[in-house]
This record gives sequence, C-alpha cells and structure tokens, in this order.
Amino acid sequence: MSSVYNFCAGPAMLPVDVMKKAQSEFLNFANTGSSVMELSHRSKEFITVAEKAEADLRNLMAIPENYKVLFCHGGGRGQFSAVALNLLGENKKADYIVTGAWSKSAAEEASHYGNINVINVIDNTDGIQRVKPCNEWTISKDAAYVHYCPNETVDGIEIFQVPNIGDIPLVADMSSTILSREFDVSKFGLIYAGAQKNIGPSGLTLVIVREDLLGNAHIDTPSIMNYQILADNGSMYNTPPTYAWYLAGLVFEWLLAKGGVSAIADINAKKAQLLYDFVDESDFYQNSITQENRSLMNIPFWLIDDTYSADFLIQAQEHGLTALKGHRMVGGMRASIYNAMPIAGVQALVDFMKKFAAGAQ
Ligand SMILES: Cc1ncc(COP(=O)(O)O)c(C=O)c1O
Repeated sequence: MSSVYNFCAGPAMLPVDVMKKAQSEFLNFANTGSSVMELSHRSKEFITVAEKAEADLRNLMAIPENYKVLFCHGGGRGQFSAVALNLLGENKKADYIVTGAWSKSAAEEASHYGNINVINVIDNTDGIQRVKPCNEWTISKDAAYVHYCPNETVDGIEIFQVPNIGDIPLVADMSSTILSREFDVSKFGLIYAGAQKNIGPSGLTLVIVREDLLGNAHIDTPSIMNYQILADNGSMYNTPPTYAWYLAGLVFEWLLAKGGVSAIADINAKKAQLLYDFVDESDFYQNSITQENRSLMNIPFWLIDDTYSADFLIQAQEHGLTALKGHRMVGGMRASIYNAMPIAGVQALVDFMKKFAAGAQ
C-alpha cells in the first residue's frame, strides 16, 4: 500500500494492485525470461498484450465496431496537431469551444494548420464560472469538426452533457475524463486522451476515431501522426510505447474487475461530493465553479486567506497528502482524484483540511 495519497494532475497515481502485478512480472514476463519492455512489439507475447488491451478498452467503453482505436505517441499536445492535420480537410475550417486552459491551447495549436473559429463559452458573472448552454454556442455550418474538452484539468470545469452539434463530427479531448464516467462513443467523431491520468503512465495517447474520418490527412502530415497509416498498421507503423501500452492493459483489467466504468463513476461521484460539500460548508476554503460544471476529477480550491497557502502545502505533505499545489496559471490548490484515488484518500484530505482550518483560525 502506498504511504501517501498523491493528488497529482498527471502523471497521476496508479492503482496499487496494477503496480504490484507489474512488479511481480517485471523481470520475467509470460515465461519469456525478459521484461515486457524488452520484448519486440511484433513478438507473439506482446501482440497478445496489445490485442487484449484494445479488446478490454472496447468492452469498457462499448466502442462501436466502426471506430478504430489507436495507441499513439505524442501526448495530448501531439493530438492538438494530429487532429487538425488529419481532419481539417479541404476547406481547413474548424470550431474550437474554449472552456479553459487546455481547449485554448488546442485551438492555438490547430490555428497553425487552418482557419480556427474560437468560441469562448465561459460565463464569469459574479466571479462564478459556468459553461453557457450548448444551444447558445454559435457553431459554423461549414466547420470540418467541432473540438471541445469535456474536462478542463487546470480549471476544474466539466461539461456533463455531450454537446448536440448535429452532423458535424465532434472531437473531444478526454485526457482527464476518459473512463471516469460513461460516454456514448457513437456521439463522437474522435476522442483522444493522454494516458497519464486514468489510463496508465505517460508516453501513450489513445485515439478513438470513426472510420469514415480516416484517409483525409493533409499531405504534410508526419506518417506517425497519420491516423490512416496508424490504423492500417495496428498502431505499429513505428515502435509503439510498449511498456505504457502493457500497463494501460493492466489498468483496463483492474477497472473491469471493479465493475467497469459505471461502477467507478459512482465512486467518483461520491469522492467529489465529499470534497465539494466540505469546501462549500467551510468559511476557510472556496471553489468558484457553478455546481453543474464542477469537475469530478480535478477539484481546485482556494484558501480564502491566501497567506496560509504555503503552510497548507507544507503541512499537507507532512500528512502524506502530496501534489496539491494548483496549476501555476490559476494558483490555489487542486486535488486530482482520478479512478485510482480511493475514497479513503479524499477522506484523509478532508480530515486534514478541517484540522488545518481549525488550527489557523
Ligand atoms: C485536458 C488535457 N489536454 C491535453 C493535455 C496535454 O497532455 P500532454 O502533456 O500529454 O501533451 C493535458 C495535460 O495535462 C490535459 O489535461
């Protein structure tokens, strides 16, 4: 059992059982006498790992057959470029819904490749942040796709309804929300996610793409970012991040054994409620996001009197509660409570916050 609760936004904590399993077979995988990280990606042992991971993910997310699952390099930011290069097509126009730091970055990166219409949908009336309802978003009729980020990791803002944008392909950066709750994949043209939160270690990025969107990449698209080439080669056009792929497979097995996405979603809702309820009742801490858009995975909070913040972080660390410092762009604190964070970890955080506030007042 880990001796700390790690609230890092990513790379984030992994389930202890997954790491024990990885440890137990680290030096000798499947009686090969080698570590899985030393095996060829084309070996039968690794192909078994790779295929099982994909099958388990398809099972967890009920991914329809007309979608390809790609195991890529390059992280979430790599996909900011890859999405634009693969999907902008002839007219090179796309809409980007901006709700925080990551969707803004995605739009900026895409603007290197085409005509990007940025639609800011954050309403900040009275210092409370909320996402304007989807029917107030002015979507371009000729956009090749609409990009959004259902969970803004830095800002702690989540959109729970999948936006209804008609027939235009919807692209989602699910880096910090994938597998945390159920999504109807058929509503999306493309989903991507960096692995280092709910999937596994960093170095792997998942892309789930509807087949009819393949084959339109810009001529200058690097081959290793070209979805058609990746799909045709089973994500092995070049050497994939094999160890991260293997660990992702162990995480998928762990999640299936826990009852799948709907079961973890219930736990995630309880964890988030515990922390938000405490913050709302407190006159020492605050969160400035409207109830409907509060992230279940990344919970930012501020000490109303910021002079206590540095001490809060030192004492939290001493209590075994690590990586609570908010992102440098927004300050304050942030508790990232992905699937691997047990409810006991959130309870330990709340107990500490209570004690700290009582000591400071
Ligand atoms: C929502 C979101 N998108 C994109 C990224 C960038 O991912 P990467 O660092 O893997 O490029 C992050 C990283 O935290 C993220 O949270």
